[in-house]
Amino acid sequence: MIKGSCAIIGAAGFNTLPLFAFNNTMINRAIPSSKEKIPVIGLGSWQQFDVGEANAERNPLKEVLLKMNEMGGKMIDASPMYGRAEQVIGDLSTELALNNKFFLATKVWTTGKQEGIEQMTASLQKMKRTSLDLMQVHNLQNWQTHLKTLQGWKESGKVRYIGVTHYTDSAHDRLESIVKSKVVDFVQFNYSIRSRNAEKSLLKAARDNGVAVIINEPFEQGELFRFVKGKSLPAWSEDYGIKSWAQFFLKYIISDPGVTCVIPGTSDVKHITDNLGAGFGQLPDVQGRKKMLEWITTI
Ligand SMILES: NC(=O)c1ccc[n+]([C@@H]2O[C@H](COP(=O)([O-])OP(=O)(O)OC[C@H]3O[C@@H](n4cnc5c(N)ncnc54)[C@H](OP(=O)(O)O)[C@@H]3O)[C@@H](O)[C@H]2O)c1
Repeated sequence: MIKGSCAIIGAAGFNTLPLFAFNNTMINRAIPSSKEKIPVIGLGSWQQFDVGEANAERNPLKEVLLKMNEMGGKMIDASPMYGRAEQVIGDLSTELALNNKFFLATKVWTTGKQEGIEQMTASLQKMKRTSLDLMQVHNLQNWQTHLKTLQGWKESGKVRYIGVTHYTDSAHDRLESIVKSKVVDFVQFNYSIRSRNAEKSLLKAARDNGVAVIINEPFEQGELFRFVKGKSLPAWSEDYGIKSWAQFFLKYIISDPGVTCVIPGTSDVKHITDNLGAGFGQLPDVQGRKKMLEWITTI
C-alpha cells in the first residue's frame, strides 16, 4: 500500500483501538518544471459549467466550488470550447472570493496566431485574472503556432504554465513526441481503468521528461458508472479507503506515480465530495492495481 498523510492517534494503554486518522491535506503531486505542489483531484467543467445567469443553474455550481475549496481541491479545467464555462467559473469564483485560491487552467482552441491571442485574452477577462495558472492548446489545434505565443506569454507572466491536450488514444503518439521535446510544462490526455493506452508509454514518457500530467475523462464521460451499475465493490477496496465506484476509478488513476492531477467533471456537490475523497488516504500499490484490474475485467 502507498501511504497518504496518515497519523496514528490512538495511545497505548488506553482501552481503545488505535485510531487511524488522515490529516486534512489531500495528496499532492509536484509539477516537475517548478516543484510547486498541487492536489491530485481537480474539476472538469465541460457541459456542467455551460449555464446561464439563473440562480437555479448557478447555485449548485457555487456549492461545487465551495466544496472544492473546503476539501482542498485546486485545479479547475475549462476551455473556450465549453460554451459559457470560463465566464461562469470567473463569475462564481469571484463572487465566492475564491478566484485566486484556485489553479485555473483553460485552453486555446482556434487556428492562427492573432486568433489565438484574441481568444486567450478573452479567456483571461472571462476568468477574471491578469494571469492564468495554465494555458493549454486544445486537441493540439495549430499547436506549433500557439506554443510560440505561449512561450512569450509565460515569460511576461500572463500564464504560469503551458501545455497541450487531447482526448483520444490516436493522439497519444503526437503528445508523446511533444513531451519528449520538453516544450511544455503539462500534458493532458484520456486515461481510465478500462482505457489504458497511456500506460503503454505516454505516462512514462511524461515522467521521464519532467512533464506534469492531467487526466481527462477518468469516468469515460460517465460510461464507467453505467458499466458497474448493480455491481459491488470488492471487500478489499476498504483497505484503500475506497467508498464508492468513483473513488475506485480515481484511485486507480492517481496511483500511477506519473499522474499529477485528474479532473472529473461534475456539477453535483455530492459527486464532487465523493471525487475529492479519492485524494485522501491509502493508494493501491502495484499489487493493488493488479487486483483492481482483475476485478473490473471479471465483474
Ligand atoms: N481535449 C480536452 O482537452 C478534453 C477532452 C475531454 C475532457 N476534457 C476535460 O476533462 C474533464 C472530464 O471529462 P468529462 O467531463 O468529459 O468526463 P468524466 O469526468 O469522465 O465523466 C463526467 C460524468 O461523470 C459523472 N460523475 C462525476 N462524478 C461522479 C460521481 N462521483 N458519481 C457518479 N457520477 C459522477 C458526471 O455527472 P454529474 O455532473 O451528474 O456529476 C458526468 O456525467 C472535462 O470536464 C474537461 O474539463 C478535456
